[in-house]
Amino acid sequence: MADKKIIAVVGATGAQGGGLVRAILADRNGEFSVRALTRNPDSDKARALAAAGAELVRADLDDQASLERAFAGAYGVFALTNFWEHFSPEKELAQAGNQARAAKAAGVHHVIWSTLEDTRRWVPLGDDRLPTLQGRYKVPHFDAKGEADQIFRVLGVPTTFLLTAFYWDNLIYFGAGPQKGADGRLAISFPLGDKKLPAIAVEDIGKAAYAIFKRGDEFINRTVGIAGEHLSGQEMAAALSRALGREIVYNAVTPETYRGFGFPGADDLGNMFQFKRDFNEDYRAARSIDFSRDLNPELQSFEAWLARHKDEIPLAA
Ligand SMILES: NC(=O)c1ccc[n+]([C@@H]2O[C@H](COP(=O)([O-])OP(=O)(O)OC[C@H]3O[C@@H](n4cnc5c(N)ncnc54)[C@H](OP(=O)(O)O)[C@@H]3O)[C@@H](O)[C@H]2O)c1
Repeated sequence: MADKKIIAVVGATGAQGGGLVRAILADRNGEFSVRALTRNPDSDKARALAAAGAELVRADLDDQASLERAFAGAYGVFALTNFWEHFSPEKELAQAGNQARAAKAAGVHHVIWSTLEDTRRWVPLGDDRLPTLQGRYKVPHFDAKGEADQIFRVLGVPTTFLLTAFYWDNLIYFGAGPQKGADGRLAISFPLGDKKLPAIAVEDIGKAAYAIFKRGDEFINRTVGIAGEHLSGQEMAAALSRALGREIVYNAVTPETYRGFGFPGADDLGNMFQFKRDFNEDYRAARSIDFSRDLNPELQSFEAWLARHKDEIPLAA
């Protein structure tokens, strides 16, 4: 244990980081040990990580000094921000900057930054195809992550930029599951037309990150993207129907309709899906399934994910 290389995991009590923690702990004879960062070491989730063998360290993304302490002596850092806790791209930028500067100060050998595209490279602010949100963003929870890439680069932090994908777990936890429509049928609704959505079991993001650390310096200063499968709304609905044993249809709403759904972040997600639809080739090309499976041979398909999780998907009666 003492001679193992430490990977400090931001978001260890959450979905992405939790997958990485479990991947490291599962590899008992591996070369890495795990340090789980959390604001609250007394939470049930944090205690469960400690019980499973993780070192717990208190740190807050708003407090760079706490990150420097938490990164001290670490070989690797998994860096993450959680947009959905505050809906502020500025805060995401600040928290990404704190992680980059702390990693630099601590002399970390390899950072994996969980990032997404800055969609303004495809749709500049003056382009009205996507409405501008929060003053200077098209897809706020994407753009700030992509903008933050530059902070790691400018500081010279040895970083792998990991482009993640839509979690299938959103069908359980993020309100993306089937809803009953006016016609009484259960439907999943995405403004994707007939385009395919790269998506992934969130547990596989952590496994991919672990594989990237294990492959040494191969992916440092590179952007890599992952997905479990690329499926159309029709294909997702058909797989859901098979798994759940009841008809689920695909409702290809317009981005305008989706932005108007009214839940917090609907405008951001409406723009996100429109971006994925309108720049589908680029968005998919950045997330190769073959590459993802090469990193993680246990990569789940949607069908495999459904076999494990179908009973957790909330369904209107
Ligand atoms: N849902 C999707 O389909 C999807 C797809 C791609 C990317 N993403 C991105 O994934 C990110 C969220 O990751 P997730 O789903 O793994 O999150 P999650 O399951 O909601 O967990 C959030 C994690 O972040 C930690 N955290 C949040 N604020 C912190 C702070 N100030 N200081 C220290 N730790 C903090 C929390 O730790 P403690 O509470 O223990 O401190 C927790 O472990 C979002 O930015 C989102 O845009 C989501």
